[in-house]
Order: sequence, then structure tokens, then C-alpha cells
Amino acid sequence: MSQKNVLPKRILVLGATSGIAMATTRLLAAQGASLYLVGRNAQKLEAVAGDLKTRGAAYVDICVLDLDDTTQHPKMLADAVHSLGGLDMAYIAHGVLGDQQQAEADYAVAAAILHTNFLSVVSLLTWLANFFVNQQSGILAVISSVAGDRGRKSNYVYGASKGALNVFLEGLRNRIDREGINVLTIKPGPVQTAMTAHMPKAEKFAPPQKVAEDILKAVARRKDVVYVPGIWAIIMFVIRSIPEAIFKKLNL
Ligand SMILES: NC(=O)c1ccc[n+]([C@@H]2O[C@H](COP(=O)([O-])OP(=O)(O)OC[C@H]3O[C@@H](n4cnc5c(N)ncnc54)[C@H](OP(=O)(O)O)[C@@H]3O)[C@@H](O)[C@H]2O)c1
Repeated sequence: MSQKNVLPKRILVLGATSGIAMATTRLLAAQGASLYLVGRNAQKLEAVAGDLKTRGAAYVDICVLDLDDTTQHPKMLADAVHSLGGLDMAYIAHGVLGDQQQAEADYAVAAAILHTNFLSVVSLLTWLANFFVNQQSGILAVISSVAGDRGRKSNYVYGASKGALNVFLEGLRNRIDREGINVLTIKPGPVQTAMTAHMPKAEKFAPPQKVAEDILKAVARRKDVVYVPGIWAIIMFVIRSIPEAIFKKLNL
């Protein structure tokens, strides 16, 4: 799969019931992809699988798993490869926003956010990176967030989980890009999904369909990092440029 502008065909989706993942897999299904869907809610997962079949997916299989349970990852990943008859791309989409105020008061809450958004992803990436290096091809597309670009008082625990993920992906890319593996860090701004439905002005956030289209363009172009929608590259450049002496006084 080193050829640019070609979308992969055999795809593993972690967190397949996510709003962004569902919008992306609908587009992939329409192109005849084979999909292995992993999520923790059996009912939702079956509904997503049924939808993708009607939209043209060549093959759909599911696995019900709470991805916090990293002990189950190696078996699930081996099952996925077996079921799909090989693997061209892994798309890691699961994540939690968490409750910042609770996380400020209780380390266990902060640790749970870091476990789901960072450590469980590290577990998946460790297995997948070695698998792809062994076959000398593959795409790792991982959803991070603009929140990982700079810590803010309103969501720095979530932001830290994504910031750590960004650094991990950067180092992984530096290790395995030369082996023919594409590591894509996806940084969405606010998107209209279940994760943000409670937020004020959520209806003004980016539609998942637009975000999914931009993600698949980045996959096809074998990009390293993509902000979705693209305007967030400029917004985050400005935010990162604010001197810390000023930034620490802002209410963000
Ligand atoms: N929406 C945004 O504004 C935004 C912005 C930047 C980045 N992101 C990132 O985009 C990714 C997708 O989020 P989304 O916006 O599509 O929100 P979403 O619809 O709430 O999706 C989050 C998904 O993660 C799954 N999940 C959480 N913990 C899990 C676990 N332990 N095991 C298995 N699955 C688990 C959820 O499963 P259930 O359905 O079972 O709960 C859900 O499918 C996340 O990584 C998020 O951090 C979102």
C-alpha cells in the first residue's frame, strides 16, 4: 500500500461506533472496503455493521471489546488480521472527553482518561507497528485532537492524553516511516458527535462527513499530520504562538 492516492481495502477500525469513525467508514464502504469493526457496545456495533453492508462494504466483521482491557488486544488484533485475510490500515478512533473538574479533584478520574486515550492506544500501536514493519507496508491513522497542541484550563487532562499521543506518534513515525509504514496523526477541531453534543453552540461544529472526507484525503496522500477541517492548522498556529506569560492568564 505504498502507492499514493490509493485508499486501502482491508481496514481495522478501533472505536467503530464513534461519530467520526462512522462517517469515515461509510465513505470507505461505498468504495468497497473490507472492514473489521471493534467497539464496546454490541448493539451499536451491529447497527453500524448492517449500515456499512448496505452501503457497499465488500466484507464486515465485528468484535465487541472494551479497549481499556489491553490484555485482550493481541488476540483481537490477530483475529482481525485473520478475518480480513490481511491488513492494509488500522484506524484508531476511540476516546473519551472525560470530566475535567472531576479529574482535577480525583487522580483516578484523570488516570482513566489517560488510560483510554493514551495507554490503550499505545498498546494497539505497539502490536500494529510491529505487524506492519514485518509485512513492510501499512497505514496507521490515529485520531488525536487540536486539544493536544496546547494545555488549557478547561480540558488539560484530555489535552495531555492527546499531546502525549502526538509525541508518541511522532517518534513512531520517525522509527517506521522508513520501513514503508505511513503514520497519520489526525487533529480534529470541534466536531458534531456524541462527545460534543452537550456543548454550547455544538450545532456550529464541523459535520462528521466533512471531517471524514478530509481524513480520507490525508490517508490517500500518505500525509503525516492533518488538521480537520484545515482551518485548524492556522488557528492552532496562532494559539501555539501566544507567549506563555500571556497564555496563562487567558480563560480558554
Ligand atoms: N468530537 C470532537 O469534537 C473531537 C475533536 C477532536 C478529537 N476528537 C477525537 O475523535 C475521536 C472520535 O470521537 P467522536 O468525536 O467520534 O466521539 P464519539 O462519537 O463519542 O466516539 C467516541 C467513541 O469511543 C468509544 N470508546 C470510548 N472508550 C472506549 C473503550 N474503552 N473501548 C471501546 N470504545 C471506546 C465510544 O464507544 P461507545 O459508543 O460505546 O461509548 C465511542 O464509539 C476520539 O478520539 C476523540 O477524542 C473528537
